[in-house]
Amino acid sequence: MKILVFKNYEELSKRAAEEIASTIEAKPNAVICLASGDSPRRTCEIFVQEANQKRLDLSGAHFVGLDEWVGVSPDDPGSCQYFLRHNIINPLNVDRNHFHLFNVMASDLRDECLKMDNTISQLGGVDIMVVGIGMNGHIGFNEPGVAPDLFCHVAELDDTTQEVGQKYFTQKKELKMGITLGLAHLTHARKALLLASGIHKAPIVSRAFQASITNQVPASILQTHPNSLILLDEDAASNLVEKKKKCM
Ligand code: F6R
Repeated sequence: MKILVFKNYEELSKRAAEEIASTIEAKPNAVICLASGDSPRRTCEIFVQEANQKRLDLSGAHFVGLDEWVGVSPDDPGSCQYFLRHNIINPLNVDRNHFHLFNVMASDLRDECLKMDNTISQLGGVDIMVVGIGMNGHIGFNEPGVAPDLFCHVAELDDTTQEVGQKYFTQKKELKMGITLGLAHLTHARKALLLASGIHKAPIVSRAFQASITNQVPASILQTHPNSLILLDEDAASNLVEKKKKCM
């Protein structure tokens, strides 16, 4: 695990976008798994801009959505699918066969999990997984207490996730369950990138990366990943001791 600290959200987003671009340059048929939410928002914008400017060939790349709220329509601007369609898939005109999103409208969500696991395995695994960290240390909807060897699964959402998740919606939503790639996907990903910014993330960032590994803080599993890169802004890094971090 390597921790890099940037002056601000803009700088960390630039670095994250570069990481995605260089993954595709090195491997044109790369599989990129993306979270939605505030952390990767600017990364997506910069990546789209750069990819268009540099005419990056994305025709072989595959995009996988990390997770989704169960019971929330894909047309709802608060859904993960909406985020990925509007921030990556539509602006880059990604071919229908090259993006893979959970369909929470399906009648059998366990089958959705199996389908996603199979898709990822047929594509040869995830090359780069770009994730945020929840206020409770979750990654995707891998909530505190999750088994680290799980692949895709349906999860009951922690109270914190249910409350914090309201920020994506204009009206109060019932957010009881989520569907998500598992921590086993994260540990198998060839590269794992975690983005965190803002002072509100400082306590959980220090619990995840400066304390012992525990499934009560699922993101702490990245401490053992051989190729994990934690990108923080100065605020999110403010509770880390100096020796843990490299400032950019
Ligand atoms: C969303 C997701 C979540 C978020 C996390 C941080 O697809 O997987 O785990 O990454 O809750 O959310 P933000 O970035 O909005 O602070």
